[in-house]
Parts: sequence; structure tokens; C-alpha cells
Amino acid sequence: MSLILAVESSCDEMSVAILRDKRDLLCNVVASQIDTHRLFGGVVPEIASRMHVECVSTVLKTALKEANVDMKDIDAIAVTKGPGLVGSLHVGMQAAKTLALAYHKPLIGVHHIAGHIYANELVEDIQYPCLCLVVSGGHSELVYMKSEFSFEVIGQTLDDAIGEAYDKVGRVLHLPYPGGPIIDKMALEGEHTYPLPLPLNDQTYNFSFSGLKSAVINLAHNASQRGEELVPQNLACSFQEAALDVLVSKTIKAAKDYNVKEIVVAGGVSANKGLRSLLTQKSPIKVLFPPMSYCTDNAAMIASAARVMYEHHQFSSLDLSVKPNYNLEEESIGDESE
Ligand code: KG4
Ligand code: ZN
Repeated sequence: MSLILAVESSCDEMSVAILRDKRDLLCNVVASQIDTHRLFGGVVPEIASRMHVECVSTVLKTALKEANVDMKDIDAIAVTKGPGLVGSLHVGMQAAKTLALAYHKPLIGVHHIAGHIYANELVEDIQYPCLCLVVSGGHSELVYMKSEFSFEVIGQTLDDAIGEAYDKVGRVLHLPYPGGPIIDKMALEGEHTYPLPLPLNDQTYNFSFSGLKSAVINLAHNASQRGEELVPQNLACSFQEAALDVLVSKTIKAAKDYNVKEIVVAGGVSANKGLRSLLTQKSPIKVLFPPMSYCTDNAAMIASAARVMYEHHQFSSLDLSVKPNYNLEEESIGDESE
């Protein structure tokens, strides 16, 4: 039995969630700053951390009220310790440490990507060994998990993350930030008519999306120089097909090579409808996607990962500090049955 209060503030969302045991999510309050960052075409780190400072107390109070729980009943305070924007992470970390100190509660520092992966357990148990496809604004990784909370990164992006590539292509198409969800919608309305290169279509498990992104930018630039009109829906469709082709084929290859029981998708881009249908259709094994409401950053996913860490007694001391860049493998608890 556990009652965990989690704080997530790694980028432009301040979120507090309270989770009882594995699935009883009492609240998941998310204060998004997207409307502000949209004015600048992307996240401005300084603004993000300032806005977090302004709203953290309100988000916390709202969460406690919504969940109808008292701080004294909470078993542990969880917080995203990284990776992410240093200033943004600090705000959540200070709030979590203050609560832990004031109410004498254990502290659990959670890796943001472990959170994205364990968002899936808010609805269904993960079957191990599994292969995780992590696709977000900052990450594109293939992670092999032999057992609960054991992470082996077997492939990663050599340059841009997939979400970053979506957002940059969105800019070329003059779409508001973040472009990812809009491109996804446009791609469904368009046809694949523009020839684009398949990104790093080799035998490794690594990804590379900067070449594909540059090909889209060049295509748009050349068309404008020739005074030609592009069909944005078709360009969105051609870009999405090229990106998903490699993501899906490498994921399935790795799943077969590692002989896993299921594929688990995690991160903001797991909301992509094209990815959901292509991977489900092509995969010979079960694919788990997080519910749409837990795909992009939220504290419920941090609470879910922290619930596993709580059961394994993975607590942090109060001198815990943020880690803007750090490896998921460092978080592995490993197979205790060995
Ligand atoms: O996980 P997340 O909220 O933040 C990071 O940890 O990075 O992911 C945000 C990213 C953005 O790049 C956004 O454009 C992308 O996820 N995204 C999508 C979709 N929904 C969100 N990309 C493609 N299709 C979507 N439906
Ligand atoms: Zn994220």
C-alpha cells in the first residue's frame, strides 16, 4: 500500500499528482505554459522556470484539494530529478524537498523517462522482458527491460529527437508550437507525394532525424524560390511516413532480436495516431501505449514510476539535486531474483 505525491516540472508543465497504490489516481493537476511559449515558437527556459515558481503552490494546493487527502497521510514525495531544463527542474525539486523536510516524508527522485515508461502501468501491468520505444521532445531511444526497473539503452538518436524534428518541421509549415500533434492530424488528411530520405535506415538500433528534417526544410525552401505552392497535408504525410517507417521497423527488429514479450511505447510522441496504428498493425507481439492523457509530461507518470521505487525502497536523501543530463541506465534496480 502506498500514497505517493509526485511533482513534475522538467520542461514547460508544472504538475502534481497523487497516486494510491498502483492505479488509484486521485488527481493529476497539470499547469501548461504552452500558450506563452507558443508566442516564441518554442520553450524559453528562463520563462518556464519563472512561471513554475509562480504556480507551484497553487498546483500543489489544487492537487491536495482534488484528491481530498491531507499531507500527513502521504507516504512519500516523488519528484523528477532529470533530465530536463535545469531551472525548471529546480523549482519542482525545491518544492518536493520542502514538503519532505516539513512533513518528515521520504523523498524519491525519479528519472523523467522512467516516468514516461511507467505511465503505461497506470492502466496495465508491463510484461517483462519488454522493449520500450521512447519517443519525446528530447528523446528517441530503444530501451530493453529484462525485469522491473532495469534499463538497458540499446539504441538512441544520433542528433535530433523525433519530437524535436516534428516541431521543427511544424515551424517550416508555419504551424504553432508544438507542431507534432498538428502534423499528426494533417498527415491523416494528406497523401504521401513528396520523395524524402528514410532516416538512418541501417542495421543498428540508432536513429537520426536531422537529415529528414533538413530534406523537408530544403524542399520547402526550393519550392518557395520557384514560386510553387506546397500541399502542407501531403508534406506532413510524407514526413510522417518516412519518420515512422524507420521508428517502427527498428523497434520490431529489436523486439525480435531481444525476444521480448511486449513492446511498450512512451513519451509525448506516443500520442501520434500514425505511430499507434502502424506499430500495432506491424508488430507480431503486443504493443502497449499509454492512455492519451498521460502521453505528454504529467506527474501521474512520475508517481507511477515512484510507486515501483517505493516498493523497492529506492529513496533519496535530502541533499538530492537535479540532474539535467543523466543516463536512464543509472536508475536500474536490476533483477533481485538473480
Ligand atoms: O514527452 P513530452 O511531453 O516532453 C518531453 O519530455 O520532451 O513530449 C513533447 C513532444 C513535442 O515535441 C510534441 O510535438 C510531441 O511530443 N507530440 C507529438 C504528438 N503529441 C505530442 N508528436 C507527434 N504526434 C503527436 N500526436
Ligand atoms: Zn517528457
